[in-house]
Amino acid sequence: MLLGHGSDKKRKARATGTHLARTFNCMPDSPRRTVRLAAVGDIHCTRNAQRTLRPFFAEMAEAADVILLCGDLTDYGLPEEAHHLVQELTDCLHLPVLAVLGNHDYESGKQQDIRGILCDGGVTVLDGDACEMSGVGFVGVKGFGGGFGERCLEPWGEDAIKVFVREGVNEALKLEAALARVQGEQRVAVLHYAPIEGTLEGEPREVYPFLGSRRLEEPLNRFHVAVAFHGHAHHGSPEGYTATGIPVFNVAKPLLDNRLPGSRGFRLIELAGEAVYPVPAGEA
Ligand SMILES: [Fe+2]
Ligand SMILES: [Fe+2]
Repeated sequence: MLLGHGSDKKRKARATGTHLARTFNCMPDSPRRTVRLAAVGDIHCTRNAQRTLRPFFAEMAEAADVILLCGDLTDYGLPEEAHHLVQELTDCLHLPVLAVLGNHDYESGKQQDIRGILCDGGVTVLDGDACEMSGVGFVGVKGFGGGFGERCLEPWGEDAIKVFVREGVNEALKLEAALARVQGEQRVAVLHYAPIEGTLEGEPREVYPFLGSRRLEEPLNRFHVAVAFHGHAHHGSPEGYTATGIPVFNVAKPLLDNRLPGSRGFRLIELAGEAVYPVPAGEA
């Protein structure tokens, strides 16, 4: 089933908290040889942010074909913050803008309102969904924590531990299902939580289990994703690779501002056939 922005079925699905369709077209699908993706996470838009982000998003739109927003779109998960964000995105919305929510967007229990405001504003919010355009399949989930390697938390003991682990497993299953629905050969993953440890380096090791989960990595490898983006780790590292060599970019804006000042606060990546190229800011 194909759905566009703001269809009645999509609104109904949002209102009821269910997904009537998980795969939809975001724009006319005309395969291109290269697609430029501009990605950023952790905008943490506040209710006082009117117009301060607009030039930033305009610069992203100028450089890219698709805009990716990797969660923590709002600071306290308040509807007024989401309204501000939509206003700030005004100069981007002629392009596809794909987003996932982050933990901050859940803080006030208004995540369905946030999702609705963004969707009505023209943003495609992915939550276990797949969206195909220009021959590329984009999938998105928030993800969750749980840790990495042999220290990954397992569902054993108290119910609270099992609930925590189950949330991470469910997010990984949603990611896997979305990847499986992509018809094309090229897949891009949009996450909030990290799928690998490599992009967390710089954060205290004690908080790794709360910044991501290895359960998110396995689907990326199995479906040969071209590239994955995440946020959430404000003090991590900008780049890493999965065990099979898939490039992973941590695009948390505070990290890019501090560690890659020449990035102008976002990452620009070019997909050219099978290849993935970071585009230096000067060449945007
Ligand atoms: Fe954040
Ligand atoms: Fe976060």
